[in-house]
Amino acid sequence: MKKKNLIIFGTRPEAIKMAPLVKEFAKYNDVFDTKVCITAQHREMLDQVLEFFEITPDFDMDLMKPNQNLYTLTADIITGLKPILEEFQPDYVYVHGDTTTTMASSIAAFYSGAQVCHVEAGLRTFNKRSPFPEEINRSVTGRISDFHFSPTTTSKTNLMNENINEDAIIVTGNTVIDALHFSSEKVTSDDFKDEEVSFLKGVVDLTKKIILVTGHRRENHGQGFIDICTALRRLAETNEDVQIIYPVHLNPNVQKPVYELLDGIANIQLIAPLSYPAFVWLMNQSYLIITDSGGVQEEAPSLGKPVLVMRNTTERPEAVDAGTVLLVGTDKDKIVQEAQDLLNNKNRYSSMSKLHNPYGDGSACSQIVNYIKEL
Ligand code: UD1
Ligand code: UDP
Repeated sequence: MKKKNLIIFGTRPEAIKMAPLVKEFAKYNDVFDTKVCITAQHREMLDQVLEFFEITPDFDMDLMKPNQNLYTLTADIITGLKPILEEFQPDYVYVHGDTTTTMASSIAAFYSGAQVCHVEAGLRTFNKRSPFPEEINRSVTGRISDFHFSPTTTSKTNLMNENINEDAIIVTGNTVIDALHFSSEKVTSDDFKDEEVSFLKGVVDLTKKIILVTGHRRENHGQGFIDICTALRRLAETNEDVQIIYPVHLNPNVQKPVYELLDGIANIQLIAPLSYPAFVWLMNQSYLIITDSGGVQEEAPSLGKPVLVMRNTTERPEAVDAGTVLLVGTDKDKIVQEAQDLLNNKNRYSSMSKLHNPYGDGSACSQIVNYIKEL
């Protein structure tokens, strides 16, 4: 009898990082019966990723509600998964990272009796309120999981310090690098066309230094985003040779302050969230990236792009240690000062632009599949 895999994800970054695993398992349909379930905690931003990676989910829970809250989202995921788990009866359930989908799905999978496989396991800030609620989501999922696929030895050590059995921790690199490789290959193939890449080529002024901005963290909602926008406005107004491109996350707590405070400034372009290949193209064109994203902190070092991270903590210390990522929080003066220094100081800029690959060689998914095959 074939072993049954259920791969569950719900948001944009989970989809990007799980898509290569779906592709890898698809090579072994003779060994496994693999199905994909999306909670659709995100909708448009998730569908963009599914389209690019050509993935059609077997189960679509279609849960996203406007301005949803953590309580009902968590409950809806757990109760919504019950019939799916009972119908398919997976041997292994795969969850990714630290979202509410991750945490709630791992609980539901545990209730069903399946073995839980946590991809991107063991990252920690050790501050339960930052990132909120992700630090707790990831820790709870780690406690529940049977197998832990850690991107680096640092994350493996974090798990061992929590008395997780070393034999169940497998260091694979981060599947985001697998996704980056997939994207680069697909984008350079002759028949690839992405309307958003063409649109971007019309928006981006390559005669200027491009600053790429993204942001969405819950702990930055409110005053944090007001301060971020104030800093971006100052940077744009004092640097005519700079163009700020900001694909604005669809969360209304982000859309509202960003459009109210930054719309209409000549050298700031506010645009809709980009498809993954268009975003990768834009990262490549950028001089500097300012973000609070987790995934972007992992992608940028392998593209040699300096990153200012608008957070006070990070569960991804590898690139900070290597000097390509700097934490600046949401302090508006610090954001302006550090960005200005990177615009003016060539030596500092080049030391932060070193190519650096702490997150593996793009073989994470094949390592995960091989491990499960051997069980
Ligand atoms: C979520 C995750 C966060 C992850 C981020 C990636 C939780 C608690 N948060 O945060 O860990 O880093 O995704 O982007 O799991 N919306 C849309 N369309 C979309 C997506 C979102 O309209 O495609 C709007 C909806 O109004 C939705 C709101 O954004 O209710 C918030 O979505 P939610 O997933 O709860 O929070 P994010 O800030 O996206
Ligand atoms: N990304 C994208 N389009 C965008 C912005 C980001 O495809 O307009 C990708 C980015 O390359 C990275 C992921 O989305 O892989 C990061 O997602 P996000 O910042 O929403 O979540 P986080 O990583 O912080 O959980």
